[in-house]
Amino acid sequence: MHINTENPGMDVERLLFTEEQIAKRVAELGAQLTKDYAGKRPVVVCILRGASFFFVDLCRQMKLDVEIDFIDVSSYGSGTQSSGVIRMVKDLDTDIEGRDVLLVEDIVDSGLTLKHLRQLLGTRSPASIRVCCLLNKQAAHPVELNCEYNGFEIGNEFVVGYGLDYAEHYRNLPYIGVLKPEVYAD
Ligand code: PRP
Repeated sequence: MHINTENPGMDVERLLFTEEQIAKRVAELGAQLTKDYAGKRPVVVCILRGASFFFVDLCRQMKLDVEIDFIDVSSYGSGTQSSGVIRMVKDLDTDIEGRDVLLVEDIVDSGLTLKHLRQLLGTRSPASIRVCCLLNKQAAHPVELNCEYNGFEIGNEFVVGYGLDYAEHYRNLPYIGVLKPEVYAD
C-alpha cells in the first residue's frame, strides 16, 4: 500500500465528480424525495460509514420532517473487492414497524449489502423500504438488485472521496475520483 498521507488528493488518478456536480445531483434527488414522501415522515437510514457525507447533504435537501437513524454493516474489510460476507456492526435504534424507510447508500457494487439489508429490515414489517444510492455500478449486479433512486452510474472502477474510502483513507476528499492502481498494488 502506497498512500500519500501528506496530500491524499495526489493519489487520485482521475476526477469523476466535482463538488459542484455532486451538490447539484444531491439537490435533484432531495427534490424528488421531497415530492415522493410528501405527507409522510420517513425514517432515513445512513448505512455507515461510506454514506455519511451523502446522507447529511441529502437530508438537508429533503424539505420534510424526517427521522434519522444509522446502521453499520461491513462487507469489504480493507481490500478493494467485496468479500460477499456481511456482518452487522450496529443495528437501528428505531422501531420501523409501519414506517416508511429510506436507506441511503454511497455505492452499490455487487448489491449484496442492500439485498441483505432489504431482507433483514423487511422482516420488521415496515410500510415501505426504498433505497437511494449515490453511485451505482449497475453492470456489477443483476437489475433486480437495483435501487429506487440513483445518483450516478459508474463503471467498474475503484473510487474514493465524499465518504468512500480505501483502507480508511480518502473519505474526506470533497470530490469523487478514481484511485491510482499503484496505491493498492502490493
Ligand atoms: C461499501 C459500501 C456499501 C457496500 C457496497 O461498504 O459503502 O455499503 O460496500 O458493496 P456491495 O454492493 O458489493 O455489497 P463497506 O463495507 O466498505 O463499509 P464502509 O461504508 O464503512 O466503507
